[in-house]
Amino acid sequence: MSDKLIIFDTTLRDGEQSPGASMTREEKVRIAKILERMKVDIIEAGFPVASHGDFDAVKAVADCITESTVCALARALDKDIDRAGEALRGANSSRIHTFIATSPIHMEKKLRMTPDQVVDQAVAAVKRARRYTDNVEFSPEDAGRSELDYLCRIIEAVIDAGATTINIPDTVGYNIPYQFGQLLHDLLERIPNSDKAIFSVHCHNDLGLAVANSLSAVLNGARQVECTINGLGERAGNASLEEVVMAVRTRQDVFPCDTTLDTTQIVPASRLVAGITGFPVQPNKAIVGANAFAHESGIHQDGVLKHRETYEIMIAEDVGWSAQHIILGKHSGRSALKSRLKDLGIEFDSEESLNQAFARFKDLADKKHEIFDDDLQALVSQTTSADRDDYIKLISIKVCSETGEIPNASITLSVNDQEQSASAEGGGPVDASFKAIEKIIKSDAKLILYSVNNITSGTDAQGDVTVRLEKSDRIVNAQGADTDIVIASAKSYINALNKLIQPDERAHPQL
Ligand code: KIV
Ligand code: ZN
Repeated sequence: MSDKLIIFDTTLRDGEQSPGASMTREEKVRIAKILERMKVDIIEAGFPVASHGDFDAVKAVADCITESTVCALARALDKDIDRAGEALRGANSSRIHTFIATSPIHMEKKLRMTPDQVVDQAVAAVKRARRYTDNVEFSPEDAGRSELDYLCRIIEAVIDAGATTINIPDTVGYNIPYQFGQLLHDLLERIPNSDKAIFSVHCHNDLGLAVANSLSAVLNGARQVECTINGLGERAGNASLEEVVMAVRTRQDVFPCDTTLDTTQIVPASRLVAGITGFPVQPNKAIVGANAFAHESGIHQDGVLKHRETYEIMIAEDVGWSAQHIILGKHSGRSALKSRLKDLGIEFDSEESLNQAFARFKDLADKKHEIFDDDLQALVSQTTSADRDDYIKLISIKVCSETGEIPNASITLSVNDQEQSASAEGGGPVDASFKAIEKIIKSDAKLILYSVNNITSGTDAQGDVTVRLEKSDRIVNAQGADTDIVIASAKSYINALNKLIQPDERAHPQL
């Protein structure tokens, strides 16, 4: 029987460290729920000591996830570990992940500590974490550039102190697959108590080798891989969950282990993360890119029609590329909507939220003939944000765009329950709408991303707009969907402004 390969998802922690990918507490909870549905073993939810917002987000995830283990990150410092322990108090199953750097350059130049001091601090941190949970992970940060003898020494010491998972990070993405595999092999061979812990890897993608390095480590004994949806993460990102999981699943002739993931949740999770973070997936991205299962050349199409396996090594449906269901239309009722949403893993916590979703569904059905699963996902996102009692609401918008004329937008908003209107001209109707909104709100925020994607195909498809705003060190992302892309854009801009207004949220998640 093949071993289990544990999947540790860090989209909500390392993934959030992608510049601009900050997520609110509610967004983290939505992503955590889909990860749980996917049967991810461990969800790293954040870095509680980083800010109150991060603490609250980890706590919210810990309080609602029951099937996956929820993990919080902590430096090897008492205050970090105590904060992590506190945030995880409500979890059904919890893990504290503590780390300290072990490479000569990090110890000398960043920590300004001797190797002996680093061992002592690591051991003390693991012992302190064990006061909160018996599931403790230790990472020697920058292990990929650390000395083997020293790594063996510190890892042996932390296992003795109670660490149950040892994670080997290639923090700067410097390793080459054969070398990283060898490192895992050597550590497992040389550390006398290595059989008392699971060995894990956490690879960054600076040289585009994060997945290859992770897989090489798995072939050499690693039994946990840390990864993120769409490969999100610090700088060039982390190993992408979908690629690691599908490589191992597809090449069972090579790997002596497999995950227990429900891979049909991969595409929905990828879309959710792309939508929330505003980091779109490139069309040629393996597994989740729009072209991953598309065959353009006649020879390939002919081959696939004759025998699918001539050019396809995986089945699209296995990773969640469902044949788009035309699910509901204008005459469908509330219970049909509720039941389809349930199939998609979406349940409402109140009758009121379902009613709001139903009202939006009816509006959409008036404009669009066929409503697909992806339309429903967008509709639910809208309902979740509409659930908040937003400070700024869109009442109406009118745009004029004509050849030879300067585009103009007139907009009416409700701001703290007071109606206010403004008009503005712009380079195009979207620009004019944003300027009109700014005439009223005067946010002074900088627009750093504006992107439009169609949710489904066809000219009646909903446009899904992402807006990223920055103000005083805070970055927020927001979405808006509508069959009219100018309205979708205005909704998205207003959603972003509402997020900026909320008192919390977080500064950049990293300390
Ligand atoms: O890349 C890294 O070293 C990390 C650690 C905290 C595991 O993210
Ligand atoms: Zn990392």
